[in-house]
Amino acid sequence: MKLFNLAATLLVASASAAEKFNEIKILDGHTVKSHVESPLPHTYLSATALPPSFTWGNVDGEGTSYLTHNLNQHLPQYCGSCWAHGSLSALADRIKIARKGRGNDINLSIQYILNCGAETAGSCHGGYHTGVYQLIQDMGYVPYDTCQPYIACSAESTEGFCQHVDTTCKKENICKTCDTFGGMGGKCTPIDYFPNATVAEYGMVNQDVDEIMMEIYTRGPVAATINAEPIVDYTGGIFTDTQYSQETNHIVSIVGWGTDEETGIKYWIIRNSWGEYYGELGFLRVEMGKNLLGIEGEVAWATPGSWTEVNYPCAENGENCHSDDVGYGKTDGAMFYVDPSKDVQAVQRRLQAHN
Ligand SMILES: *[C@@H]1O[C@H](CO)[C@@H](O)[C@H](O)[C@H]1NC(C)=O
Ligand SMILES: *[C@@H]1O[C@H](CO)[C@@H](O)[C@H](O)[C@H]1NC(C)=O
Repeated sequence: MKLFNLAATLLVASASAAEKFNEIKILDGHTVKSHVESPLPHTYLSATALPPSFTWGNVDGEGTSYLTHNLNQHLPQYCGSCWAHGSLSALADRIKIARKGRGNDINLSIQYILNCGAETAGSCHGGYHTGVYQLIQDMGYVPYDTCQPYIACSAESTEGFCQHVDTTCKKENICKTCDTFGGMGGKCTPIDYFPNATVAEYGMVNQDVDEIMMEIYTRGPVAATINAEPIVDYTGGIFTDTQYSQETNHIVSIVGWGTDEETGIKYWIIRNSWGEYYGELGFLRVEMGKNLLGIEGEVAWATPGSWTEVNYPCAENGENCHSDDVGYGKTDGAMFYVDPSKDVQAVQRRLQAHN
């Protein structure tokens, strides 16, 4: 495990004394770096058509957001799971976009990625965005988070209460229910069929601002690596400082871009996973086009395959949870994603409306 270079830390005058941990780690099990079938957005659109500002957090200038909720990777105790947060937030946002923002948000289980991704995706001691997407393809699903909420632990972590919990990839740690207090005869049991989402395709965008903007505009937020050291004390505004290393150690999600009216500086709008007390309500802005902090160097995308809209109903204790039930959920209630390359004209209509 690579500890963060202390010399770089000292460059940041006001940075805290705490040593930072490199949360980027590509595991040996991450063998499939991409799975691409559809034409990529830059092959069927032109960058000149893109609007000067666009963010999934406010698509119409009236505040309509297609972003799912902000997250905090560091609670209930410190965990270096930025890579799982950045990649799953981007995927959940893309599901929200595909659902046109309708219905309750679908929130995906980051704890499941920690429980089952030790070989492929990562742990509290670092991981990688495309590893998460490979894991979901290998396993066949990622559960919704209400049956495996985030506890900020992975099997090797001894932080906080982590040594007292089992986070191995057993059935109960994929999706579970607990039916009443243990003293009243309660127990926790795995759920057999549960709401889940899949990944259809994934890969990396070239280090090219036009291609990154095309990907975000056409298909949704992306996951990206960044040098976190200079941004720990960020208090808002556009980060433009060029003196820092492009060597990265953290993963975030880019949800859009903007152009500063006074200076004309273009910037990325970035979602962090350090809570909403951080930066601009959990977000930060970094100048575009100079690979500042390495933000443009390793940008990953994934498209959803399908997601559950109508679940198989399970009893509170997990019984009766099977697919051949009668009534609600009798038919498989999945929705399937359609890649925008299948309807390029629809993307062009969106572009016209934005310009
Ligand atoms: C997802 O999270 C948001 C914000 O916490 C919440 O409003 C929404 O109900 C959640 N969705 C589900 C299905 O739990
Ligand atoms: C995942 O969701 C699909 C669609 O709702 C469903 O058919 C499938 O059984 C679910 N998978 C699991 C493991 O529950």
